[in-house]
Amino acid sequence: MISSIKSHPPHNKTVLLRVDFNISLNKKHQIADDFRIQRTLPTIKKLLKDHNKIIILAHLGRPKGVDPKFSLKPVREKLQSYLPNYHVVLYDSTEKIRNHEWKKNDILMLENLRFFPGEQAKDPEFAQELASLAKVYINDAFGNCHRSDTSMVGIVKLLPSYAGLLLVQEIVMLDYVMRHPQHPVLAIMGGAKVSTKIDLLSKLMEIADTLLVGGGLANTFFAAEGYPIGSSFYERDEKTHAQKLLHLSETNKTELVLPTDVIIGSINDPDGDDLVVKPSEIARGEKRAILDIGPETQAEWGNRIAQAKTIIWNGPVGYTEHPSFARGTDFIYYSITQNTHAVSVVGGGETLAAISKKEYLDHITHISTGGGAMLEYIEKGTLPGVEALISSRY
Ligand code: 3PG
Repeated sequence: MISSIKSHPPHNKTVLLRVDFNISLNKKHQIADDFRIQRTLPTIKKLLKDHNKIIILAHLGRPKGVDPKFSLKPVREKLQSYLPNYHVVLYDSTEKIRNHEWKKNDILMLENLRFFPGEQAKDPEFAQELASLAKVYINDAFGNCHRSDTSMVGIVKLLPSYAGLLLVQEIVMLDYVMRHPQHPVLAIMGGAKVSTKIDLLSKLMEIADTLLVGGGLANTFFAAEGYPIGSSFYERDEKTHAQKLLHLSETNKTELVLPTDVIIGSINDPDGDDLVVKPSEIARGEKRAILDIGPETQAEWGNRIAQAKTIIWNGPVGYTEHPSFARGTDFIYYSITQNTHAVSVVGGGETLAAISKKEYLDHITHISTGGGAMLEYIEKGTLPGVEALISSRY
């Protein structure tokens, strides 16, 4: 069991709060989506209400050393806008944090952890340096719990450590759908690559009654069936894995369902000719690629979504960068929001970003802040960041 700030709320302490503010920025380096910041606010507000001094730890992107493009400045501004009665101060060194003269209502933030070589090197000295700034460590960074970086694992050995409210909520929801779901359970997996999702798909086949597979992921299954699929992206080396999963679906209770019709078109000419075809009927030598699920698939999948009692969805099922090929993904989203009797869990950032109109987000039971973390949690039932908290000796 994890100790959390619900059961062990710190009072009047200086706390290190690790969050996942790894959010998407647009080309002008402005925040494109601040969902992860918003979801951390309950923990921040609770800690403030209990008179704690907060030092926020976060990373952004994958900089190689210090790089102003990956500064947390825009994140600081956004957080400040949500906490107008507080003063959020960003420092680029632990020394400046140590020397800070705290005023009432200050919140401190350390610059992008990935500017510090010790973070990803899992350096015990860096863990000491961070831990020496505070009396308590709180992990609310579910989206980064699949990483074993210093700020996720190293500090836990040095300070009393607890989970934040978001981390607890994520675990409770994912445990529910994995361990005690109401049937029928429907999983929908999209995205590009089978290679990164083999174990996950096998795991889902133990839990779900039906597994709908779309996007680039489905192409590898079509190729495994021996269909010529034009210039569609697929993973040649994963055909055997796909065959095994198809075979498993025949012997297992889980039905693995592929699209029965698809839209083929051209990424380089998205407004050019596109065509609805059955995957088995794509002509040999076809130049176009599969870019979305077709209308018959939408209708069939919509029906299955309507009947499910538990829904797990990750990954777009089309080339959603262009609106012509985003219809299948939008339809899935809309169908999930219309099934109000099901528990639905959707994640992570890539899936949310792929939906064009998000007006019914509140109809989804849980939108995970984790992308890779959510998938790895489903696959393995735990994560390094979570394990560290469980084995914390405090
Ligand atoms: C994520 O967005 O998945 C986490 O913040 C981890 O980021 P990373 O994939 O760059 O390690």
